[in-house]
Amino acid sequence: MTHPALSAGRGAIVTGAASGIGLALCKRFAAMSMKVCMADVALLDKAVEAVAEIAPGGRDNILACHTDVSSLDDMLGLRDAALNSFGEIGVLANNAVTRLENTTWENHDNWRRTFDVNLIGVVNGVQAFATQMIGQGFPSIIVNTGSKQGITNPPKNPAYNAAKAAVKSYTESLQHELRNTAGSQVTAHLLVPGWTITGTAKHVPGAWLPEQVVDYMMAALDRDDFYIICPDDETTSEMDRKRILWAAGDIVENRPPLSRWYPDFASSFEE
Ligand SMILES: NC(=O)c1ccc[n+]([C@@H]2O[C@H](COP(=O)([O-])OP(=O)(O)OC[C@H]3O[C@@H](n4cnc5c(N)ncnc54)[C@H](O)[C@@H]3O)[C@@H](O)[C@H]2O)c1
Repeated sequence: MTHPALSAGRGAIVTGAASGIGLALCKRFAAMSMKVCMADVALLDKAVEAVAEIAPGGRDNILACHTDVSSLDDMLGLRDAALNSFGEIGVLANNAVTRLENTTWENHDNWRRTFDVNLIGVVNGVQAFATQMIGQGFPSIIVNTGSKQGITNPPKNPAYNAAKAAVKSYTESLQHELRNTAGSQVTAHLLVPGWTITGTAKHVPGAWLPEQVVDYMMAALDRDDFYIICPDDETTSEMDRKRILWAAGDIVENRPPLSRWYPDFASSFEE
């Protein structure tokens, strides 16, 4: 059964809508005759055209908003614009991301911007929309996009990993609070894509297409799954389970952090 939040006529907000998984989400929602609000800091014209081609109602039910998710004012403006056009919100997908160079002890400005967009952008989305969505009194969905890097913490890009780990923690707390809020029919979900080629990059064997991530997410939302951990053509769900357990094992087995990439433990991890 399709989730009632994902049905024709409902409003969908997608941040980071100009590219990749965000654009694929907009296309899918539009194809289902949902009203789609596309938010991004990048130019949206081409993306809107691509979505309008698929939408049964053409451009009519598509709203494009230049929005920087790191600004609460922008997100409140986005909420007002969407409510003004659609009247209600069925789905909020906090998907926007920035990827900036960083190491643990360098690039302070990039650390700030990474957290402002990748974590506070999600918090801003929830703080702008959740009260309205709860008050509507019918089923609605908030999907926050995390990353396996926020769970298994691989070497390199520590700012991205740390922000995505915080998105996971934040979204778990959000779902707990929503579940314990009287009258709330809003649920939160953590979407964790696998390796997905997006933007202008050429597709590479092993990676998934953004549309495969959306297929996987839609099926998981129909089951009301909270953790939506996508595999790809290189990493199976079973491999993901073992990698996640290994990372948790670093703590309970008193191994060094990131032991998977530590020569002393590499062979036991491989086993
Ligand atoms: N592609 C992957 O392999 C992969 C893997 C794991 C997780 N993810 C996550 O999936 C989500 C989508 O990733 P993608 O690869 O499709 O991204 P992408 O780079 O294709 O698109 C990201 C979009 O976010 C927009 N954006 C950047 N900063 C913004 C801001 N401040 N406000 C509003 N919009 C902003 C960009 O302009 C861009 O259009 C991200 O949260 C990412 O972390 C992706």
